Amino acid sequence: MSETSQPSSTSDFLWFAQLSRDGEFIGTKEKPLRKPTLEYVSSLIETAAEAGFSSLLTATNYHSEHENYTAAIAALARTRGAGLLIAVRPGMFQPAMYAKMLATAQNLFPGRVRLNIVTGSSPLENAMYGDFEAHAQRYKRTREFITILRQLWTQPAPQSYQSELFHFENAVLEPAPVQPIPIYFGGASEAAQRVAAELADVYLLWGEREDMLRERLDQMRVLEGEHGRKLSYGLRTHVVVRETEAEAWQAAERLISRVDPEVRRAFVESYSNVDGVGQLRQFQMLQEAGDSLVVEPHLWAGVGMARSGVGVAIVGDPGQVAEKIRGYERMGISTFIFSGYPHLEEARRFGELVMPLLKGTQAEERVLHPGGVAPVA
Ligand SMILES: Cc1cc2nc3c(=O)[nH]c(=O)nc-3n(C[C@H](O)[C@H](O)[C@H](O)COP(=O)(O)O)c2cc1C
Repeated sequence: MSETSQPSSTSDFLWFAQLSRDGEFIGTKEKPLRKPTLEYVSSLIETAAEAGFSSLLTATNYHSEHENYTAAIAALARTRGAGLLIAVRPGMFQPAMYAKMLATAQNLFPGRVRLNIVTGSSPLENAMYGDFEAHAQRYKRTREFITILRQLWTQPAPQSYQSELFHFENAVLEPAPVQPIPIYFGGASEAAQRVAAELADVYLLWGEREDMLRERLDQMRVLEGEHGRKLSYGLRTHVVVRETEAEAWQAAERLISRVDPEVRRAFVESYSNVDGVGQLRQFQMLQEAGDSLVVEPHLWAGVGMARSGVGVAIVGDPGQVAEKIRGYERMGISTFIFSGYPHLEEARRFGELVMPLLKGTQAEERVLHPGGVAPVA
């Protein structure tokens, strides 16, 4: 593993806080055994922190066992050592209220709270939240929502706002967040890219082929230039790492070895109800990968057989995984959100096998970030 001679990575590494049942197999008919109890979610956060991750993403998903803001606050109160990247759908809350909720979270858990803006990919799921807006209108709402959050977090004077979507009068957010709340943003459509370039701090991409990532990063750099801004870029993928490459591919195959045909059929049928461009691109990559499920060297689409959202995993031995990550860093990506099944054991494994190659440290030398979170570039 020659990567030890590489300079230490300055990237920010996040893990994933599983808020549904966790297990060794995906796509099974029976639910995985491990429940997302507060004890489990807390130990996941502390294990990820020990492994060298600065924060964990809590996704918003109506099918998830827990609503993510509620679970995040409970888990933050019980843990130390890593923060949480809390996802929100702008249609779920009045923005003045949500600005207050997140400011409260950041003030109770200083420096441990970041926000991920999610505009929604599935009309069926949107309907569960009572959100019946079409894609373009959802992004219009997202844009206004972020504008209002920023306004309330940074302006001490009373703020009023009136549009066809939102209206409030004389809102004063006191106290303001003790530390800025970084805004992360996922979405692959042109509408998403435009809003992100104007208002986000970190633009997130789901794993795709490297040429696809390069193309989108190029587009984003043009758009951020139009606003005179400079964003950070982040990538979200799963990881299957083992001591040898052969073992990693065996582990990948094992993960999907119990996919139930009925679960799979229902999952494929759900594609027809999706309007999220990023999600459709994940489905297309899976189809194009064919039986091997290999998208490109060390990128595997198998997780997408039975999981919505990001469906690709980096697969390889520790050196291969680290080199794949180095390649993304060379493209300008400096934030990574990883996961693996089960999330606790795989966070630990990544910390032992890959993190030392990236950070140039041994696991036992690493100290937890004081106050919980590493700075966000
Ligand atoms: C890293 C990342 C995390 C995301 N997290 C969520 C999530 O928690 N819940 C969700 O419904 N969508 C999530 N999404 C989907 C997007 O936020 C967005 O709503 C969706 O892709 C639709 O937008 P698009 O048509 O612009 O792609 C995520 C996307 C990315 C890239």
